[in-house]
Amino acid sequence: MGIPIIIDCDPGVDDALAIILALSHPKVDLKAVCTVTGNGSLENTTKNGLKILSLCGREDIPLYKGSARGLDDKEPDTVPAFGDDGLGGYAHTVQTEKKPEKEGAVEFLVRAANESNGEVTLFATGPCTNVAKAIRIDKELPKKFKRLIVMGGAKYTGNMSPVAEYNFWADPLAAKEVLNAGFHEIVMIGLDVTNKIALGADIREILRIFDTDISRFIYHATREGLIENWETRQKPVAPMHDVLTVAYLIDESILTLKRANIDVVTEGIAKGQSVVDIKGHWSGGKCNALYAADVDVNQFYKLFLTTIFKEHEDEITKYLM
Ligand code: BDR
Ligand code: CA
Repeated sequence: MGIPIIIDCDPGVDDALAIILALSHPKVDLKAVCTVTGNGSLENTTKNGLKILSLCGREDIPLYKGSARGLDDKEPDTVPAFGDDGLGGYAHTVQTEKKPEKEGAVEFLVRAANESNGEVTLFATGPCTNVAKAIRIDKELPKKFKRLIVMGGAKYTGNMSPVAEYNFWADPLAAKEVLNAGFHEIVMIGLDVTNKIALGADIREILRIFDTDISRFIYHATREGLIENWETRQKPVAPMHDVLTVAYLIDESILTLKRANIDVVTEGIAKGQSVVDIKGHWSGGKCNALYAADVDVNQFYKLFLTTIFKEHEDEITKYLM
């Protein structure tokens, strides 16, 4: 039996890749997917989540539709990083009859925490709204999960402002409440490391050679992100942020972590900024999270490709030597 996990996400190409990687590795047991507004409206991220489970042949995994509004009850700005459909213009190629569960994501998270026996690892790869709302219902919820692995924030950079990353920026109050809610362990995997694993032209070409349903999906779905990066930053690489969370679960040695106290700015010019205090400047040595300071990019790609395309393990290993 693999490690039981729940992914709360806003698919999104990189959320989709996190789900695909989770479903491809025997060490991981994906119990459920929850959705939130982010890479498009809630309707869209939910549709995409259902499609990804179908693409992977795992319609048996329940999907719970979550929050369209943030903790402040306003609709958060969505992000068009992966094209209008959130899957790089490729969503229409995947059809599914699968429907979300009747229970909503927030109610599900409260129930799942109670049924977790302290064993389930929770992932948040979209705005933290669902998780924060669930904690407002049950303050003890964080203690009932094994740990939280979150894609969000950064110490040194931003993608919505010079200092703010999208997931924390979209619902900063939710991110703040979740980080300070008392989880046994939080691993914050932010842009400082996720930018380093952006998908380049060489690996995209290798995906074309593999020519499977999944490799074609990754190749085409990442194209919009690549174009956006080229036009805005002159970098011909596609974002892969969220997939690093699941890669870390599978092989923790991929990341260098530092104990830190992390808080989030909720308004003003620095809205959404994660303030990462490693040296105890203002937290007096108190730590609420582990901050991902560095990533072994080669090791990540070896894990990602050999897990999803096992049949090509030899070539991949030689290429990435
Ligand atoms: C985060 O924002 C979303 O667009 C991605 O899916 C990722 O979770 C990166 O800032
Ligand atoms: Ca995401």
